[in-house]
Amino acid sequence: MPATCVVGLQWGDEAKGKIVDLLCDRHDVVVRYQGGANAGHTVVVGGVTYKLSLIPTGILRPGVDCVVGNGVVVHPPAMLSELEAIASRGLEVEGRFHLSDRAHLIFPYHLAEERLTEESASASDHLGTTRRGIGPCYRDKVGRVHGVRVAELLHPKPFRERLERIVAYKNRLLGAMLADFTPFSARSIADEYLAYGERMRPYICDTVGLIHSALAADRRVLFEGAQGSLLDVDHGSYPYVTSSNSSAAGIASGAGVPARQIERSIGVVKAYTTRVGGGPFPTEQNNEVGERIRQVGREYGTVTGRPRRCGWFDAVATRRAARVSGSTEIAVMLLDVLAGLEELKVAVAYEIDGKRSTELPASIIDLEKAVPVYETLPGWSEPITGVKTWQGLPRDARRYVEFLSEQMGLKVSIVSVGPDRDQTILTGF
Ligand code: GDP
Ligand code: IMO
Ligand code: MG
Repeated sequence: MPATCVVGLQWGDEAKGKIVDLLCDRHDVVVRYQGGANAGHTVVVGGVTYKLSLIPTGILRPGVDCVVGNGVVVHPPAMLSELEAIASRGLEVEGRFHLSDRAHLIFPYHLAEERLTEESASASDHLGTTRRGIGPCYRDKVGRVHGVRVAELLHPKPFRERLERIVAYKNRLLGAMLADFTPFSARSIADEYLAYGERMRPYICDTVGLIHSALAADRRVLFEGAQGSLLDVDHGSYPYVTSSNSSAAGIASGAGVPARQIERSIGVVKAYTTRVGGGPFPTEQNNEVGERIRQVGREYGTVTGRPRRCGWFDAVATRRAARVSGSTEIAVMLLDVLAGLEELKVAVAYEIDGKRSTELPASIIDLEKAVPVYETLPGWSEPITGVKTWQGLPRDARRYVEFLSEQMGLKVSIVSVGPDRDQTILTGF
């Protein structure tokens, strides 16, 4: 059975959670393949709000299996408390939540390492991360010497021995860098993590085998992206990115499922653009337009509460993201937020050092210099949060969505006009 993926095409928070939730009634398995608790996916069902971070959004639908794949980085206390919070809302977890034995573990020293760089005196060294230990954990994973997989929690003696060596190394490193550093105790971390391991034991399995068996049994598998394609470590605005392949490119490595299995790749975009943390953002509006979008769209981070930076839709960057993620269609989200703006702008090209380009430059030096070339479209004044059909949208709202579709060279299959599951229009084009 071919699979589907839902991937953000901007800098995260495109409302992927809402789309995954919407599609869950037609899927049997939902898989997270990268990232960790840096993600914050908000879903509103019948006025009730759910916030998910590391656990796939499919957990909200009874009967759907949820998988945290090998490409994810897991902070066990964060994962266990999220599972507890989900269970306390009456949702079944046992038997349908599965954690890869190959996923990597985030330890307290990763959080300390991240604080070190994020609080560095040199402003140019800050990335504005979510401080969930994501970068340092992935760094240890690719560095190999200090990476620890979930499966190691099931072998206490070698786990304790390895942790002794790793913690001794980290203590030396952090002790040299920090003035008032209290060394970590390998033994207390090992005690704590082995206890987590016992609680996680029922969920731990070979998720690659599980997903392939599901596909072979014609179960419908949905891959849930976290972050967005412009935060992809290879394809995004490096170094202001996350540490994983957050485009659809990450599915093959992070879940062990080859790209050819993905038949439907839904690229999720906001009708405008937001970004949290540092990094270039050519269409940013540091003015009343940006402020208005932030207030109407409630653009504050789910994980950190930081105000999101807001700006116009950037067709140059988003087109690139759609190509990398193999998008077969797009979902245009938060269209309602633009109601009342007299005119709307869309960046269709950049001018860099006087030269026009429709490609995303490799270097942030060029991206920071990029002056967007805008097309201006008329806005609409009526609120649209109650609109249920494509034809029911104001003409200029339809025109705006059609323009995005033309710019992206992709059909728009879904338009969202509010956070709730039923504030969704299936366009049919
Ligand atoms: P994700 O990380 O991609 O899942 O997105 P987030 O959940 O971080 O951010 C999207 C926010 O927009 C959430 O608060 C959603 O409840 C909200 N949202 C989703 N769709 C719409 C929409 O069409 N209109 C409005 N106004 N809000 C929406
Ligand atoms: P969802 O899944 C928006 C951003 C951070 C920072 C950069 C690196 O909700 O869309 P990290 O902690 O990953 O090392 O931070 O990436 N970032 C996100 N921005 N949505 C997210 O997730 C994000 N996850 C990370 O703000 O700029
Ligand atoms: Mg989010």
